Amino acid sequence: MKTIIGLDELRASRLSLAGTVGLVPTMGYLHKGHLSLIRLAKSECDNVIVSIFVNPTQFGANEDLSKYPRDLERDLSLIEPLGVDLVWTPTAEIMYPTGYQTWVEVDAITRPLEGSMRPTHFKGVTTVVAKLFNAVQPHKAYFGQKDAQQAAVIRQMVRDLNFPIDVIVCPIVREADGLAMSSRNKYLEGADRKAATVLFHALSAAKVLYESGERNAEALRGKMKEVLESEPRATVQYVSCADYDSLEELDVVKGKALLSMAVVLGKTRLIDNFVLN
Ligand code: PAF
Repeated sequence: MKTIIGLDELRASRLSLAGTVGLVPTMGYLHKGHLSLIRLAKSECDNVIVSIFVNPTQFGANEDLSKYPRDLERDLSLIEPLGVDLVWTPTAEIMYPTGYQTWVEVDAITRPLEGSMRPTHFKGVTTVVAKLFNAVQPHKAYFGQKDAQQAAVIRQMVRDLNFPIDVIVCPIVREADGLAMSSRNKYLEGADRKAATVLFHALSAAKVLYESGERNAEALRGKMKEVLESEPRATVQYVSCADYDSLEELDVVKGKALLSMAVVLGKTRLIDNFVLN
């Protein structure tokens, strides 16, 4: 497994790869969710490239950029056994050299949900992902369903900008008690970690209601809110029952829909979602 920092070296190595290339973009501090993306990429592509870059432009001014967990040695030891060909770990100076001024922005789909709480977030995500796509030129790119809006925004960007890339979205990997895996779970301590299962319980309760025949989206949002509010440590930022592709809030669930939520527990902000088919 080759580890590369520089862009020229990445391009040279990429050119030497024969066959299909799968890219797994990450910000490091890998967990089982990332490893499931890498395993799927490995099973579908001749070559797999993993990028590790904590992208500063997707963090808001008051967010956790400086605190974001980093451990490259641990990441490399987790990736190595999976047969990854190349790990690209560019620096901020490589991705955003002095004088940098070009941004990729996706419109309506970035406004609700995470976009309403983190107004500059998706501009940073789409810009860095477009740059990763241009540098690596993968045939397929793998993202987790955990960041459901990010996946929808990237699918939209790929359609709009005609990137010849298949975006593959992989299911959420959960802890035994239902908590969705996330690098930020590291911040959860003691009682907050226990209380964090409330997101899974709220989504599960809404899904039970949906499966019993309920199609009124407000009733599903109400059920999620009711369960979340039963946990005194949780502060609800939003609950949503939206169209899977456009992310517009629904009145009635007809096609594929996304139940999603953002909740603050102590100092940790958690998001989670279920897809209704
Ligand atoms: O999901 C992430 O880890 C990041 O948002 C991504 C896609 C690697 C872009 O920085």
